Amino acid sequence: MDNQSVPLPLGFSQCTKEKDDFKRLLCEINTLKEAGEILTSYPPRTFKPYTAHHWTILKLIFLKMYVRDVYTPIIGRRYPFMVFIDPFAGTGLNTYKEAKIYIPGSTLIAWFFATFPFDKVYAIGYEDIDYRVLKLRLERYIPPSKLWIAKGDANILIDQITKDLREMKEKFGGVHFLAFIDPECFEAQWQMIEKLIELENYGILGDFIILLQSRLIARTIGRIRLGEKIDTRIIDLFFGTKEWAFLIDLPSGELEKGIMDFYLERLKELKSRALIEVISIELFRAIHYYLIYLTRETKRKSPYLATVRWLKDFVENAEKRYVDRAIRVALGMEKMIDDYLRKQ
Ligand SMILES: C[S@@+](CC[C@H](N)C(=O)[O-])C[C@H]1O[C@@H](n2cnc3c(N)ncnc32)[C@H](O)[C@@H]1O
Repeated sequence: MDNQSVPLPLGFSQCTKEKDDFKRLLCEINTLKEAGEILTSYPPRTFKPYTAHHWTILKLIFLKMYVRDVYTPIIGRRYPFMVFIDPFAGTGLNTYKEAKIYIPGSTLIAWFFATFPFDKVYAIGYEDIDYRVLKLRLERYIPPSKLWIAKGDANILIDQITKDLREMKEKFGGVHFLAFIDPECFEAQWQMIEKLIELENYGILGDFIILLQSRLIARTIGRIRLGEKIDTRIIDLFFGTKEWAFLIDLPSGELEKGIMDFYLERLKELKSRALIEVISIELFRAIHYYLIYLTRETKRKSPYLATVRWLKDFVENAEKRYVDRAIRVALGMEKMIDDYLRKQ
């Protein structure tokens, strides 16, 4: 790597000093934008960013804050080997349908914003072109000895990752992982989550951030209710059981919560001493999805959860309009009132 390849000393952020929630959120997004600017210098921005809606940036803000303020400061001190697993890494770059700005993808957010560096990063690119740009981007910033990257279906490749983690455990004596599970809808099969959680049997613990696209899942189940012929095997694989079928009979208004509750029940059955926080992201214009944070209860419960709860409270209790607006302002979709007044 040349000198230019690690230009982001962003592990510690000024944003944590910002007491005003609105400004804090703006700050978190602005530092992501700065990182995106650097990233787009190579490979060029025409190289296929993943296009999302502006509100999905919240999952990346959560990831950034958790990695920076909680996960790496705590785990980095306690474990000899700390890894980030990103089975749905996309292309390594995000843009937004409504705003022409660029934000690093999840893998590089974890890498750039870690307070203590990860010892290894596992990333999977799915489509051929996605994989190629992801690889170019990650190899530019992450040293080869710390990067594991592969192309294909995360549900299959997960076996290679768990095998490698067991080897790392043998070699270093202790491994801890953070898994960011960020599918578009049903792609993260239950058996994949199960294999990661069952690493506990080898003494390998992990934290999870899982995006549950309850609205899209509810839409598919709603179509089944209306009698549409849909191949339900994809849903069986997603929940790891056929028992989800009771959801078809739930009233529409209860379906999304029903999906969430069922998924959480499955997680609790699987992970011992599961500690779960659900961030229900329900923005202005009735856009919503769930971000599930899963960890293992420790004797000193609270330090782990402070940041999780901060974001949860912020997103859930702040007026929805307010969060939506902070994102729009930071993404340049809306002018700040301050700017406006200054010009008067
Ligand atoms: C929501 S995007 C991920 C965005 C990424 N985490 C980021 O921050 O830029 C989901 C990605 O998963 C990919 N994908 C779909 N099915 C997959 C599978 N079975 N295995 C791995 N990736 C898959 C999609 O092509 C898409 O790029």
